[in-house]
Amino acid sequence: MKRIAVLTSGGDCSGMNAAIRAVVRAGLSNHLEVIGIQKGYQGLIDRQYELLTTKSVSGKLQVGGTFLQSARCLEMLEEPGQRLAADNLKEMGVEGLVVIGGDGSHRGALELQNRGIQVIAIPASIDNDIPFTDMSLGVDTALNNIIHAVDCLKDTASSHDRTFVVETMGHNCGYLALVSGIACGAEYALIPESSYRIDEICENLLRRFQEGRDNSIIMVAEGAGKAQDIADQIKDRVGFETRIMVLGHYQRGGSPSSFDRLLAARFGVTAVEALLQEESGIMLGLSCGAIVKTDLGKVVRGGRRDIDEKADAPVPARGMYKCLYCVCTLYV
Ligand code: F6P
Repeated sequence: MKRIAVLTSGGDCSGMNAAIRAVVRAGLSNHLEVIGIQKGYQGLIDRQYELLTTKSVSGKLQVGGTFLQSARCLEMLEEPGQRLAADNLKEMGVEGLVVIGGDGSHRGALELQNRGIQVIAIPASIDNDIPFTDMSLGVDTALNNIIHAVDCLKDTASSHDRTFVVETMGHNCGYLALVSGIACGAEYALIPESSYRIDEICENLLRRFQEGRDNSIIMVAEGAGKAQDIADQIKDRVGFETRIMVLGHYQRGGSPSSFDRLLAARFGVTAVEALLQEESGIMLGLSCGAIVKTDLGKVVRGGRRDIDEKADAPVPARGMYKCLYCVCTLYV
């Protein structure tokens, strides 16, 4: 093997640069050429790429986002785009590809593998909705971003006896809202995996304020509802002054946490080693602190990671979800 390529695809997250750096440095130290594909699969289809050196990745470790840039590529969903992407890789002399991204990126990676490309996927998405890994790259930094924001909101909320409804990202997954809610001591985490009754929430909010509590925080995952709708319902029912904060893309940026930097390094180096060992069609993951490998087809078929005892997830992740689920359905 002489030449490999790396790309970042889908929604960016902190730690992507650190993972690219690890791929480049591991590749170079194994006498491989490393090509960086720009703007994810779109760059692959449009043949936008550059040769990466140690200098290209110097000073990138601590920077959020992805210097290769990313895109959500509609052409990669269709057969002609997938064929062109595979043909371009072959013409570029690329013998192995590392794809860093979320569920959509893994579907693209599987299509390339089916067209004869040796491919290794690294799970990267703040949503933590990718099956067969306890944590995806970027999740820990996003949680820290959320925690910082909510701590600030609590200061101002308690100065005015206010309730704040804080909306997190997560697509259809409640992980960010739930875990940050526990870490921040929020009163509720409303998540798509679990139903809630607004009347019951309002009764508890009222009781809290009658007891003399000066603030309440309700986390809501974007898949469970809109912060403004929930704030309006609370105001209508109990008349509280309720404010909202939609955290949006703020959650995706910023310097990666030490956890994400280390995870990126482990994923990046393992991906190159796997390519050198002629492995293909696998996604790397984290299970009980160890790096594990799962067949990409199984990952893509795995669908959404449920907060459910029956979910096909590694046992430790399942246990953790069960514990969090219990906390979430209680009034904490
Ligand atoms: O998948 C990551 C994610 O940040 C989701 O949490 C969110 O729903 C979506 O991407 C936002 O996408 P975009 O950046 O394209 O608006």
